[in-house]
Amino acid sequence: MTGRDTKHKIEDLALFGGHALFSEQLHVGRPNLGDRETFLFHVNDILDRRWLTNRGHYVTEFERRIEDCLGVKHCIAMCNGTVALEIAVRALGLTGEVILPSFTFVACAHALQWQQIRPVFCDVDPATHNLDPQRVRECITDRTTGIMGVHLWGRPCDTDSLEQVAGTHGLRLLFDGSHAFGCSHSGRMIGNFGDAAVFSFHATKFVNTLEGGAVVTNSDELAGKMRLMKNFGFSGLDNVIYIGTNGKMNEVSAAMGLTCLDGMEAIIETNRRNYERYAEGLTGVRGVSLLRYDLREKHNYQYVVVEVDDTAGIGRDRLVEILHAENVRARRYFYPGCHRMEPYRTLQPEAGGVLPATEQLVQRVLCLPTGTAVSEEAIAAICELISFCVENSRSL
Ligand SMILES: Cc1ncc(COP(=O)(O)O)c(C=O)c1O
Repeated sequence: MTGRDTKHKIEDLALFGGHALFSEQLHVGRPNLGDRETFLFHVNDILDRRWLTNRGHYVTEFERRIEDCLGVKHCIAMCNGTVALEIAVRALGLTGEVILPSFTFVACAHALQWQQIRPVFCDVDPATHNLDPQRVRECITDRTTGIMGVHLWGRPCDTDSLEQVAGTHGLRLLFDGSHAFGCSHSGRMIGNFGDAAVFSFHATKFVNTLEGGAVVTNSDELAGKMRLMKNFGFSGLDNVIYIGTNGKMNEVSAAMGLTCLDGMEAIIETNRRNYERYAEGLTGVRGVSLLRYDLREKHNYQYVVVEVDDTAGIGRDRLVEILHAENVRARRYFYPGCHRMEPYRTLQPEAGGVLPATEQLVQRVLCLPTGTAVSEEAIAAICELISFCVENSRSL
């Protein structure tokens, strides 16, 4: 920061020629590193073992730790969350059409389209940002084979209703828990709902493996298939019994994941503290509401999500412009919605017509910087800045 640079007048804003509030950029999703010495110790050990990938010690250990942490029967570590989604979709035998939200990261839709499955974009509940089960029912056709729910921001989908819909219509139910590692729902860890759940351990995620992902499931059959699929279909030396790809996680990634898992509670504590500072700082700021978490459940607090509504008097995009000029790299998520990205925009030009809640959210949602790289003082300054912008919205 450049000192207590409170903004008193419009010209103090960096966008209008004032000094930027922060001398360095504050990012959403700056990686959490865990303990450096531990990681380097593991990397040296990997080099000593000369075992870099293919069911090495670290990947095996990482999978066991995830299984213990989530209370699931099987964890299959993979090279990233997108390939994990692709493999889960394939192992579940999905074809035809699969229902999913448009308000998510585009990898969810790509994992389907990549395999010639039509993503059917369904609207979300504006209160939860997750799939609206009633809208899901309306999207079912005789080509539907599955539902992909995304636990956005780590907040759970309405799993009971989705399980009921899937059960009634004979559909497979896959969850994308990329945001929800370490979060619980009705007292059970996310990862235990539906047929399987996917996690991303990308660098921006709460627990990261540099690049990485996993599928977890309580089904022995599904787990067996996915283990084959991620390793070219090899069931032993020279023996390929299935079609597969290369979805393997490498040992260095697993070592990073284990280091992050060791430091997980400390990271949650920092995220929670940051979240509470934002909650305090944004209380009473007109038109800016912070997304709430259910305090009875476990949470990773990895995302600080605000919605900027019309009463703020300043549009979300103008606010982003001002924040960026102050070196606060707040991000619009998941703008403009998968259905407005290619190839979906061209293939399904009518999709937006049935997504009113999604259309509104993509105009309102903003994620603010958090994680171990952001101090409490910085958060107080960001909140003051947002408050200043709202108070002076008429001039901005
Ligand atoms: C909800 C969601 N699903 C899937 C992915 C894809 O994961 P990866 O980047 O590990 O491929 C991401 C983000 O990266 C995500 O946020």
